[in-house]
Amino acid sequence: MSFTIAPERPQDAALITPLLDRTFGFDRTRKTVYRLRENLDPLPELCFSAIDDDGSFLASIRYWPIEIAGTPAILLGPLAVEPALQGRGIGKALVRHSLEAAQAAGHALCVVVGDPSYYRSFGFIPASAQGLCLAGPVEPERFQVTELVVGALAGVHGVIARGKAGSQAPAAAKPARRRRVRRSVA
Ligand SMILES: CC(C)(COP(=O)(O)OP(=O)(O)OC[C@H]1O[C@@H](n2cnc3c(N)ncnc32)[C@H](O)[C@@H]1OP(=O)(O)O)[C@@H](O)C(=O)NCCC(=O)NCCS
Repeated sequence: MSFTIAPERPQDAALITPLLDRTFGFDRTRKTVYRLRENLDPLPELCFSAIDDDGSFLASIRYWPIEIAGTPAILLGPLAVEPALQGRGIGKALVRHSLEAAQAAGHALCVVVGDPSYYRSFGFIPASAQGLCLAGPVEPERFQVTELVVGALAGVHGVIARGKAGSQAPAAAKPARRRRVRRSVA
C-alpha cells in the first residue's frame, strides 16, 4: 500500500477522537499530559494525517504548545495509527515528517510521553534526567525530550506548563512547510 502525509484536513478532526478512543481507550484523558492540552487547540501547522490513495484517513499526529519554566516548547502527541495498519511504518513516517516541520518552523524543544523504545530513534532522551518535571503522575521512563535546535536544552529545566493559545515558534518568521509526502509501505 502507499500513503500520503498531508496537513490535517478539516474532515479529519471528527475521525481523530474515535481513532484515539480505539487506540488509547476512553480513560486516556485522565493522564497528566492531557492537563497540558485542555481548552487549547493543537498547533495547526504541526497537525498531520496519513491518508491512502482514496483519501481515507489512516493516522494522525498533533502537537500542543507548552512551556518549560517559561521557555516555549512543543508537546508531541497524540500519535495514533488505525489498528489494522499498525507496524507498516506510518507512525514513524508521521513522527519524522512532523519533527522536520517543527524544526523548520523554528521550534527548539519537543517533549513526549510515550514508549522510549519507539521515540529513542528520533533523538528523544529521558526528560527527568535533564531536570524537567511534569505536574502530575507520569511513568518517568516515558517522559522524554529532544532538542530540535542543538543546545536548546542548555539552562532549561523546571516544570512543564500549558503553552499560550496561538503561540508561535520562537523563529516564527520562518513558515513551516505544509508539504505532502507520498510513501509506499509493505
Ligand atoms: C504506536 C504507533 C503510533 C506506532 O505506529 P505504527 O505505524 O504502528 O509503527 P511503525 O510501523 O511506524 O513502527 C513500527 C516499529 O515500532 C514498534 N512499535 C509499534 N508500536 C509500539 C509501541 N506502542 N511501543 C513501542 N514500540 C512500538 C514496532 O515494534 C516496530 O519496531 P521495528 O521498526 O523495530 O520493527 C501505533 O502502533 C499506534 O497507534 N498504537 C496505538 C496508540 C499508541 O500506543 N500510541 C503511542 C504512541 S507513544
